[in-house]
Amino acid sequence: MPLILGIESSCDETAAAVVTGDGEVRSNVVHSQIPVHARYGGVVPELASRNHMLAIRPVVEQALSDADVTLDDLDAVSVTAGPGLAGSLLVGLQAAKAIAWARGLPIVPINHIAAHVHAPFLRDAAGAGPGALRFPYVALAVSGGHTSLYRVDAPGEMTVLGQTLDDAAGEAFDKVAKMMGLPYPGGVYIDRLAQRGRADAIDLPRPMLHRGLDFSFSGLKTAVRHALDGLALTAPLEVDDPRIADVAASAQAAIVDVLVSKSLDACASVGLDRLVVAGGVASNSGLRARLAVAARERGITATITPARYCTDNAAMVAGLGAALLSRGHGLTGAELLTLDIHTTRRPAR
Ligand code: KG4
Ligand code: ZN
Repeated sequence: MPLILGIESSCDETAAAVVTGDGEVRSNVVHSQIPVHARYGGVVPELASRNHMLAIRPVVEQALSDADVTLDDLDAVSVTAGPGLAGSLLVGLQAAKAIAWARGLPIVPINHIAAHVHAPFLRDAAGAGPGALRFPYVALAVSGGHTSLYRVDAPGEMTVLGQTLDDAAGEAFDKVAKMMGLPYPGGVYIDRLAQRGRADAIDLPRPMLHRGLDFSFSGLKTAVRHALDGLALTAPLEVDDPRIADVAASAQAAIVDVLVSKSLDACASVGLDRLVVAGGVASNSGLRARLAVAARERGITATITPARYCTDNAAMVAGLGAALLSRGHGLTGAELLTLDIHTTRRPAR
């Protein structure tokens, strides 16, 4: 069975993983830079690149050692080539190219979003696995940089069905959290606070609900701002105040309503009854619970990526790399040497 080393450095996680040709995760190392960026309230691209430089070698070594392999055992290297922050992507790409070139291995360039929506195919000893999932399927990729719906026909072959016209859902979570004085990135804090709050406490808009498959979250953010002003709560807010939990629960419910409803609409629009949900925001407990119920009611089989493979990681990069390698996507020689990044993702603000 081939062994693939995956490398991910598109934003603020330096990650490496070893995955087998059929998607079994042998190791998965993620070094988060959250402590570096938290004080700035968002990712600072310059600091991200520098910290990737420091972390990349130990992270790759750890992934090899956790999998109990050496570079000699590898059959290919797959690496995120975009979208992402240019300086960050370059660090992972150069490391991958150096390893591949020195060892005479093929390199498989990976689209970060395609890796997210392929993550449910990863298998591990803790029970992850694709179950009955097969192509084609509809995928919701929902993260700090993206909120998009795709039709996925094969590994890495996706057609856009809808996308956000302004903020990504993860950005909306993070901005609401920031207004409430919560640390960066705030999605996970909203998730925790929401569990104690009333989702119907504050009437918030569901932007563009039942109007096509595109998303918009900037108006919701403004509505939360007004709600906070109306409550006359001033930062730093007292997180024990039950009204804060109500704001968190109401904002989360509004975002989740839109994500769930449009995902199911997307399935109907292309006539597919298989839905994958992936990306950092897919670890939100409210989204996971609502989606599971709503999909079942509509006769749709929802595959929600295991939380450990939702936020940025390299197992998903190696997993898609394995699938593409077997389809002849490995680059060698001059193609390997001239491989470049492609950037479209905006830095978090
Ligand atoms: O996929 P990811 O790690 O990086 C990107 O590709 O953007 O996603 C990060 C995003 C952040 O906005 C973060 O706040 C959000 O995912 N996130 C969550 C939760 N965990 C992470 N949002 C809501 N609830 C969560 N539990
Ligand atoms: Zn991501």
